[in-house]
Amino acid sequence: MDKNFEIIAKTLFGMESLLANELTMLGAQKVRIGNRMVSFYGDKGFIYKSNLSLRTAIRILKPILKFNASNEFELYNAISSIDWTNILPLNKSFRVDSVIYGKIFNNSLYVSQKVKDSIVDKIKFDTGTRPSVNIEDPDFRINIHIDNKKCTLSIDSSGISLHQRGYRFATEIAPINEVLAAGILLHSNWKGNTDFLDPFCGSATIPIEAAMIAFNIPANVNRKKFSFENWKDWDEDLFYIIEESLLKKIKPKPIKIIGSDILSSAVEKSLINVENANLSEFIQIKKQNFLESSKNSKGSLKIVTNPPYGERIDGNINALYSDIGSTLKHKYDNTDAWIISSNLEAIKKIGLKASKKIKLINGKLDSSLNNYSIYKGSKKK
Ligand SMILES: C[S@@+](CC[C@H](N)C(=O)[O-])C[C@H]1O[C@@H](n2cnc3c(N)ncnc32)[C@H](O)[C@@H]1O
Repeated sequence: MDKNFEIIAKTLFGMESLLANELTMLGAQKVRIGNRMVSFYGDKGFIYKSNLSLRTAIRILKPILKFNASNEFELYNAISSIDWTNILPLNKSFRVDSVIYGKIFNNSLYVSQKVKDSIVDKIKFDTGTRPSVNIEDPDFRINIHIDNKKCTLSIDSSGISLHQRGYRFATEIAPINEVLAAGILLHSNWKGNTDFLDPFCGSATIPIEAAMIAFNIPANVNRKKFSFENWKDWDEDLFYIIEESLLKKIKPKPIKIIGSDILSSAVEKSLINVENANLSEFIQIKKQNFLESSKNSKGSLKIVTNPPYGERIDGNINALYSDIGSTLKHKYDNTDAWIISSNLEAIKKIGLKASKKIKLINGKLDSSLNNYSIYKGSKKK
């Protein structure tokens, strides 16, 4: 059995506590929240399990060296102190990613280059063979994080970002990042106990993530590749045992999960993505103008949605938000609605009292996730 070691899961702004909670539920040890990351302890199997399961992580790193460096020579030397032949399989390509804060180093491309040179030189010296570097599609990723002098060198177990779940190839305008979509749903406390609607579904990211949460489907079950498959200690049997045990916990529920959009092209793309996620049986996609719709569920309804935040197709964005507010108020009684928007002026035009506002970042845009509880009784009061 592997001993536990430190692992770092990176996430988006505003998702740290959700990720820590997911990790604790999965059984991680010594969970600690940082800035856009959570550190914890686990073993090799836990690296597989967390890559498969975590909804709010964008990548999972295993630190292999921590050191201080005040200049590029110290950086180069520290990296070449490692026996890379023990870590990097010689027939695999690699790349280096760097994240830099502070004043000592200020060019992340240059730092990546320096780290890469140090690794290539060391392996050439030790083996006489030059390892291959591949920026576009590497087998192996190495990550250097520098905060002033403090450097952490890690190997990246995920590869391409974990938001690339493996179900979304067709996208409509401004698709939301899958990790952000899952995080919004977790912020909204979505557990799959009511019917669900995303009335501005675009490419159906939110309904798909909603179904995966409701039915306990591991976030990355549809993903084809993880970087840890190229690690020297890759244990295929262990991976399949872990995957199998996660799949056994999937439990569909008799609820309606609906995505709708005004555009036929969005409906077509949503149908493709839902099928890729193997959820056609559970998610209904329809063409509908939300402003002409009304609630179609007997009990409570959860709405989680991401309306347009740029220009409205037919004109004024403020008017769209004001119309969303009136539609909710008059046509969607008994609904718990969560709306994320990067248009911080327009969202004020919804005209309903938000019981919660959570600051998030969508791409590079400051955004607000607002919660509106629509209940007849509370309106009268
Ligand atoms: C920001 S996008 C949603 C992106 C989506 N979350 C995704 O991941 O692809 C907003 C969507 O709202 C749709 N839309 C705009 N006005 C609408 C209306 N009145 N009723 C329904 N959908 C509308 C647009 O067609 C667009 O697909």
